[in-house]
Amino acid sequence: MDTRPDTRTPTVAFLSGEARPYSRKRFEAEAPDLGLRVSWLDPQHFDLLIDAEAPRTLYRARPFPMPAAFVARTGSDTTHFARAIARQMQSTPGVAVINSDEAIMCARDKLLAHQVLAEAGIPFPRTVLARQPSDVSKMVKLVGGPPVILKLLSGTHGKGVMLGRDLDEIQASLDTVWALNQTLLIQEYVRECAGADIRVLVVGGRCLGAMLRTAKLGQFRANVHQGAAVSVYPLNDELEWLSLRAAEVVGLEIAGVDLVQGADGYRVIEVNSAPGFEGFEKATGRNVAAEMLRYVRFRIS
Ligand SMILES: Nc1ncnc2c1ncn2[C@@H]1O[C@H](COP(=O)(O)OP(=O)(O)O)[C@@H](O)[C@H]1O
Ligand SMILES: [Mg+2]
Repeated sequence: MDTRPDTRTPTVAFLSGEARPYSRKRFEAEAPDLGLRVSWLDPQHFDLLIDAEAPRTLYRARPFPMPAAFVARTGSDTTHFARAIARQMQSTPGVAVINSDEAIMCARDKLLAHQVLAEAGIPFPRTVLARQPSDVSKMVKLVGGPPVILKLLSGTHGKGVMLGRDLDEIQASLDTVWALNQTLLIQEYVRECAGADIRVLVVGGRCLGAMLRTAKLGQFRANVHQGAAVSVYPLNDELEWLSLRAAEVVGLEIAGVDLVQGADGYRVIEVNSAPGFEGFEKATGRNVAAEMLRYVRFRIS
């Protein structure tokens, strides 16, 4: 049988398609001191037998011993198949699954995430779904532009986010994206943030801290993958409340919440389900790997 959870040294299994992420090294370094074992799983080595009476999970063609906890770090790359693996884990009694499949899907879909944030009264930049065909200048006006931000529904590391400075440029971007059968969001450009955003890490209903990311000169995207510089940012009540509430309404136990500071306060721009933390550990000095593992250990029943 492959459905019994491991109860001796609990294993925390991470699902990730990345080859050798920083987080892997860090989790492997911290786990022994916390009495945990970690394993790293690539979605492409799984075989799932879907069966009402005896579902089976194989990894590299062998029965897969169920871990005590399963952490999906696939983020916006979550494929149909990675979801199926997560659901198989979610339906196995005794396996703690963090974050849930539903929460990951909500975070991944920027439109859905914005709708959920709006319902909860969390401030974010005004956003419209760019309907095709439609009067672009009307949609741009609705969000106070130009300029406006154009975003693919699911993108990450700043890929899929563009600045549309004037109507010609916006129309050209829309036509290009539509030709590829993709959908775009048109969003109010928060000019006051001047290429800087704030990343807050939320773990189990607690904020671990915040860092400021400052885009390279002349750029508007403050992603570390786009060469942004990072530094510690002091947490305050408003930041904490907004970040905790954003993670909560999207349903994420572990979340990276991105915010920008506008003229009238902070606004949430994104909630990430698999936040990287290399820059965050360096900027804040927090031991994020240990904090995340301690929370996962708490969730193991
Ligand atoms: N509405 C906005 N106003 C100003 N800058 C923005 C806005 N939305 C995004 N940005 C900038 O673009 C970056 C990437 O946007 P984000 O929505 O976080 O997408 P990704 O998932 O690719 O990180 C942000 O970190 C921020 O610096
Ligand atoms: Mg982001």
